[in-house]
Amino acid sequence: TDLNLQAILAFAIDVALEAGKMIKDGQAKRFAAGAGMDEKANAVDFVTEVDKAVEAFITERIHSQYPEFKFIGEETYDGQQITDEPTWIVDPIDGTTNFIHGYPMVATSIGLAVKGIPVLGVVYNPFTDYLYSAAKGHGAYLNRTTKLPFTGRPMPLESLSQALIGVEYGSKREEPSMSRKSKVFHTLAAHPSLGGKHCHSMRLCGSAALNGCLVATGGLDIYWEIGCWPWDVCAASCIITEAGGAIFGSKDKMDSWNGEANAEFMMERKYLFVRAISAAEGESA
Ligand code: IPD
Repeated sequence: TDLNLQAILAFAIDVALEAGKMIKDGQAKRFAAGAGMDEKANAVDFVTEVDKAVEAFITERIHSQYPEFKFIGEETYDGQQITDEPTWIVDPIDGTTNFIHGYPMVATSIGLAVKGIPVLGVVYNPFTDYLYSAAKGHGAYLNRTTKLPFTGRPMPLESLSQALIGVEYGSKREEPSMSRKSKVFHTLAAHPSLGGKHCHSMRLCGSAALNGCLVATGGLDIYWEIGCWPWDVCAASCIITEAGGAIFGSKDKMDSWNGEANAEFMMERKYLFVRAISAAEGESA
């Protein structure tokens, strides 16, 4: 790509920091006004006026700076496909349920895909003031200066029994979806190959983008979810890959996959397996 990714990254970071301020201020206003919960797809998939306002703000900034780039955003999505064109893929508020409840795992997620590959990602949590960013070929960072991963976890891990694993319930709670998810949770927590042992623990933070960034830092070793959308994973995918982690979609495509996200993976939404370990027993989980 002949795009100046570092210049675009500096721009995207500015936009994310401003969006973060809107999110924080928006939450304070909602709480002060005693706002209720707006429902989107169902009772556990919320959208607020703040999501919409933040997306409108990001869209406006992006269009005036990069009018030729395509745009896919959670709140205005109408079935667009991810083409080869440079495409911003944006979630104004990832972790909307957390946002509504005042649980501080909330982030704005700004990704850019070129030829379907995420080449730039910014994920900013205004409540913790954690800024995760990466541009393809330039590494991944926390708050611009701490190179990811920074935890010093061995990679690959020797065994799943050493892993801290992130999962999510997602918004689809009917059967057979719930049983399938529970089965995967159970398998990850106590895989048969562990011989009666189990992983260190499981975590469920409520934001796909932040789960992804936690894998990039080394804070999580694995993150698994089914049902995510491209805007949940685009930015974090670039951050994980730049931090040396790997991303996998459907099990049947595992063998041919190079561990990098692409358009097909982002649109598939069926089986998301993100991890920073490549232990042999992890392959079979
Ligand atoms: C959701 C969150 C949640 C995940 C869902 C996402 P939203 O995004 O990331 O953790 O389980 O799959 O859709 O709706 O808060 O932007």
